[in-house]
Amino acid sequence: MDLKSINWKNLDFGYRKAPFRFHARWKEGQWESGRLVEDDYIRIEESATALHYGQQCFEGMKAQRSSSGKVYLFRPEENGKRMQDSARRLMMPEVPLDLFLKGINEVVRANIEYVPPYGFGASLYLRPMLIGTGHNLGVKPAPEYLFAVFVSPVGPYFKEGFKPIRVKAESYFDRAAPHGIGHVKAGGNYSAGMLPVTKARQEGYAEVVYLDAKEHRYFEELGAANIFFILNDNTFVTPKSDAILPSVTRRSIMEIAEKDFGIKVEERPFGINEISRVKEVGACGTAAVITPIGEMLINDETFRFYDQGKTPGPITEKLYKHLTSLQVGDIEDNHHWLTEVK
Ligand code: PLP
Ligand code: COI
Repeated sequence: MDLKSINWKNLDFGYRKAPFRFHARWKEGQWESGRLVEDDYIRIEESATALHYGQQCFEGMKAQRSSSGKVYLFRPEENGKRMQDSARRLMMPEVPLDLFLKGINEVVRANIEYVPPYGFGASLYLRPMLIGTGHNLGVKPAPEYLFAVFVSPVGPYFKEGFKPIRVKAESYFDRAAPHGIGHVKAGGNYSAGMLPVTKARQEGYAEVVYLDAKEHRYFEELGAANIFFILNDNTFVTPKSDAILPSVTRRSIMEIAEKDFGIKVEERPFGINEISRVKEVGACGTAAVITPIGEMLINDETFRFYDQGKTPGPITEKLYKHLTSLQVGDIEDNHHWLTEVK
């Protein structure tokens, strides 16, 4: 990828090959120290569990540039810990936190020119992954593993940027079952979501909101982000469920809402029957950042939120501005969430 050919202003959320990636292999109970490699192909056994049985997980993170040119990561240790949770659930060896952070830092440092300049709303997306390798045929954990991190400069996940999107509450397909793997970042959760989201996009919706698989009565999350609601009395509510991904972004905006803005925050089961009490809705995640949801289809009925879904709601906007300013170092990091890559 030729850096000069990148139009930082109009970047989509897509793969662009950067020069370096980080690889560390696990064999015979040991992690190697890992190294930077240039090859963007991974050579693994045809019988690897990652390819057949979905024994793999991943993470999503961003490196962003400040106005003075510094490069910051946002709460990287939280992604490291979540990858360990995913590894345990999928019977893979945990990547030690120091190896995870070393891989992240080395890969960003090696590709530092690919961290977009300040002020374009673009960032360097990091994709850490852990995959089962080694020859294997039966359904059992792999004998070997690869921890890898590649990066790609990206723009907004929803092409509209900070504009309200239309979403559809999924009344047929489920993302994750109770006691399944919805709470970990396993690839299978995303392959299961490709059919529903493709159908939704064909119908003009940007994303799907999944409901609880048992009763289809409670909101869970979107295919690629968590969800939050601002009620008419200004309360911030976000679903409590064991089947959703514990989002680092969501945890952060709950803290911002409560501590920085004095907003009442609730994490609780949130039923579709409560939608009439809602005045703003938002999606949140690393890729989605905070994306306002202007319109939602629920069982053939369309609900529109702030300004008939035409503009972002004021609380959503306030949270978005605070989070994004904090992430690029424009305002003081009083939560101690930033790590500079030097
Ligand atoms: N939920 C799902 C299904 C996701 O894919 C993501 C993205 O990572 C999130 C939620 C948001 O998590 P985070 O804020 O940690 O990126
Ligand atoms: C992220 O926000 O980092 C994600 O992993 C969402 C996605 C699958 C693009």
